[in-house]
Amino acid sequence: MSKFIGILTAGGDSPGLNAAMRGVGKTLLGYYGMNIVGFRDGFRGLMENRTTPLDRSTLSGILTIGGTILGTSRDKPHKMPVGGKMLNMLDAIVDNYRDNHLDCLVCIGGGGTQKNSLRLKEMGLNVITLPKTIDNDVAGTDSTFGFDTALGIATEAIDRLHSTAHSHHRIIVVEVMGHRAGWLALGAGIAGGADVVLIPEIAYDVESVAAAIRARARSGSPFSIVAIAEGAISQQDLAAIAEARTVDKKSAKAKDGRKVDDEEADAAEMIYADRTLRLAKRLEALTGLEARVTILGHVQRGGAPSAGDRLLATRLGTACADLIAKGTYGVMVAAKGEGSRPVKLEDVAGKVKTVPLNHSWIGSARRVGTNFGD
Ligand code: F6P
Repeated sequence: MSKFIGILTAGGDSPGLNAAMRGVGKTLLGYYGMNIVGFRDGFRGLMENRTTPLDRSTLSGILTIGGTILGTSRDKPHKMPVGGKMLNMLDAIVDNYRDNHLDCLVCIGGGGTQKNSLRLKEMGLNVITLPKTIDNDVAGTDSTFGFDTALGIATEAIDRLHSTAHSHHRIIVVEVMGHRAGWLALGAGIAGGADVVLIPEIAYDVESVAAAIRARARSGSPFSIVAIAEGAISQQDLAAIAEARTVDKKSAKAKDGRKVDDEEADAAEMIYADRTLRLAKRLEALTGLEARVTILGHVQRGGAPSAGDRLLATRLGTACADLIAKGTYGVMVAAKGEGSRPVKLEDVAGKVKTVPLNHSWIGSARRVGTNFGD
């Protein structure tokens, strides 16, 4: 009997989502003769039963398009804002899955989506996931689609920043996305020849960064590019955060029971804010060079997917359809070498693939003289 499959995209958008959806959809429809339906805006659309037909014509022409034709959201099934409250909507989601007579739900997303999909699996639903994110931080897979496109965009930005930094003898600090893992800053930093690369995995010492920049200036290069991941943090800030964590923000009490005011309670949060701007100011003071900041932001997630991401998303999407046809559920379709492999959601959910400190990219970067601030 023909199966009926639901598809949704969840979490931050990333290039390659449509290519993956097309890969799954065309294979299910054309190769296996199954039927599919799309849910709008991630798990929220599933909870609100907002469906949209997916057929050969809707799946046609989307391979090259950025974003997601289904829309997305960061809403979580077990903690969703509804009517001004955060509610557990898992039961409503299960009801909609059953009312739509689904045999399986395909969830395309990053780390959060893997966790949320596991929650649905634990409610007895057949789910299968695909790993996307420009951060490349999903555990269990060699890579995620979206990363290659963002890497190209960030690298091009660093290339362009080089000529202006060089002309003005300036430091340019370029902030690249990646809160928990530094793959994007590291990859683009290497590919763009950044002089300093700062990633969440290596707490940096501002003095060490400044010393590297001063050494470059002394050797005849009075300009530097510092590629910093959003989540990179200095040793100095880490120490300040450890101090500030003595404040319990909810009760506005210090650990010693002393009552603190809002200002003091907010101090811990503020240490995280404006880190890149503060770094640039500090480097100016420590090197005597002018510094400027460029925050690449969402431009890294927008636009058409690269050829590499189209290929990866299509490979994983079609492999996902093959697994559905075999009745293999409860897994993420991971990239493995030239092929793919199913990995149990339990082995992926809640884990983050950070950059190992002995990773070859770090080794190569150090050999060509890149400073990591350590
Ligand atoms: O998860 C991908 C990502 O682009 C991160 O690199 C970034 O920190 C975050 O999303 C930004 O999220 P939002 O678009 O919700 O602000």
